[in-house]
Amino acid sequence: MMKTFDENTVVFFDTTLRDGEQSPGASLTSAEKIEIARQLKRLGVDIIEAGFPAASPDDFAAVERIAHEVGTEDGPIICGLARAVESDIRTCWESIKGAAHPRIHTFLGTSDIHLQYQTRMSRTEALRCVREMVTLAVSLCDDVEFSPMDAGRSDPAFLVEVLATAVECGATTLNIPDTVGYVTPEEYYELMSNLIAETPGAGPGSGIRWSVHCHNDLGLATANTLAGIQAGARQAEVTVNGIGERAGNTSLEEVVMAIHTRPTFYNLKTNIDTTQITRTSRMVSNYTGMPVQPNKAIVGSNAFAHEAGIHQDGVLKEKSTYEIMTPQSVGLHNSQLVLGKHSGRHALKVRLEELGYEVDGEELQAIFRRFKEVADAKKKITDADLEALMMDERQQQTEFFKLLDMQVTCGTMGMPTATIRLQTPDGQEKIAAGIGTGPVDACFQAIDSIIKIPNTLLEYSVHSITEGIDALGEVTVRITPAQVSDDMKKTYGGYGADSDIIVASAKAYISALNRVVAAVGMDGIDAEGQSAIIGVS
Ligand code: KIV
Ligand code: ZN
Repeated sequence: MMKTFDENTVVFFDTTLRDGEQSPGASLTSAEKIEIARQLKRLGVDIIEAGFPAASPDDFAAVERIAHEVGTEDGPIICGLARAVESDIRTCWESIKGAAHPRIHTFLGTSDIHLQYQTRMSRTEALRCVREMVTLAVSLCDDVEFSPMDAGRSDPAFLVEVLATAVECGATTLNIPDTVGYVTPEEYYELMSNLIAETPGAGPGSGIRWSVHCHNDLGLATANTLAGIQAGARQAEVTVNGIGERAGNTSLEEVVMAIHTRPTFYNLKTNIDTTQITRTSRMVSNYTGMPVQPNKAIVGSNAFAHEAGIHQDGVLKEKSTYEIMTPQSVGLHNSQLVLGKHSGRHALKVRLEELGYEVDGEELQAIFRRFKEVADAKKKITDADLEALMMDERQQQTEFFKLLDMQVTCGTMGMPTATIRLQTPDGQEKIAAGIGTGPVDACFQAIDSIIKIPNTLLEYSVHSITEGIDALGEVTVRITPAQVSDDMKKTYGGYGADSDIIVASAKAYISALNRVVAAVGMDGIDAEGQSAIIGVS
């Protein structure tokens, strides 16, 4: 049944799993997508755009699973994206129909550039297509959203015709995408106000919900989104950490916290539990292998750090001198001491469940073993440590290559050398050694001599999870494989966490390589995992 919302509430449509996953290197496994969807539900998003079901059988399966497992009666609307094409719309419906509140989101490019070069349709043909495809979508699902893609560069008068057609055929949400991040806040405000005023059947009181969808190519996505909301839109399409195509989408946390921090300015409500923001940001960053820049608003590691003496002095005297929101309001610094080395398996399971991870059986055993090791070495175990261990453990649960053991020597005397023992997908153990310019390089060389996937290392970053010399370190890497077909030549990310950052580095690299194997398939590697160059038969 279709969900409705009051006019004073800005509903959050999270597209991390669709537009966000289109970020270079952000490919997620279906287990990770489910975990993120569960966390988005906890965060309180109103709509989850779970994917583009017609894009591949994997996308279909992930959307279908999210619809069943997360799209419960009390849960968010589960939305699938579909081009304005009959087969896409039917496939989309099949994948979302198991949700208590399903939504079909269909789109068609409406700017002259898109009509001429991409859709190759006249305006008349585009109008016919919108009429037929929205009618089809509405015949399947009572909740239909329509997007005129590249609305920011479309002729406003033609947009009115297109949107009026969508409304006439039963669409209930009209989304205005600035697909290429081209417009300014003033222009977006004007466009949204005019469309709301001029589209027949879609004005205030009509029941139509207007939606903003902005990209960040000029760094204006949040400003444009807030301008659209001020013009009357009551749905914001966003991603966690602002990930997405090119420079990304509008970031959820920025828009949410603007509305929450300036209540008398916006005078609007949201259904978001802001204390879940930090946790969600970490989960998305770790699973996608996309680190958050330190100075990123709300979720960057410096977002609440006061460095200058005068600022520190002010904050010590009275927080509001330099703090417009508290770290606690976004769920930061609430990572209290949760468990110690005497805690049992049950306490660990309960705490992990509170953090949003469902663990049982073998997985619980494995994570408990890791927890005990860390608890022995480290005085305090925080929520952030548990989240890192959990994420690391999930990365290591793979049917492909696994790190068994490693040893590294480095320093000022001699060559940095690493010895690595790996398990190959067919269960064999392989040992290799490598030398390099430093310990990480030596490790990667040793791994490369077992897993032969030539690649370029695009990014390598290390970050300590908590303060203190005994902190766990987390590493993210991003690689591009060299000898694969063009459609597989994407960026693949990997994550690893350990109290030894060289071990975390090896795990992160292996997890990125495993993602390449998952995408390209094992056919590119021979049975021994020894000699083939992936993607070349
Ligand atoms: O940016 C865009 O235009 C989109 C549409 C598919 C809504 O993501
Ligand atoms: Zn988009």
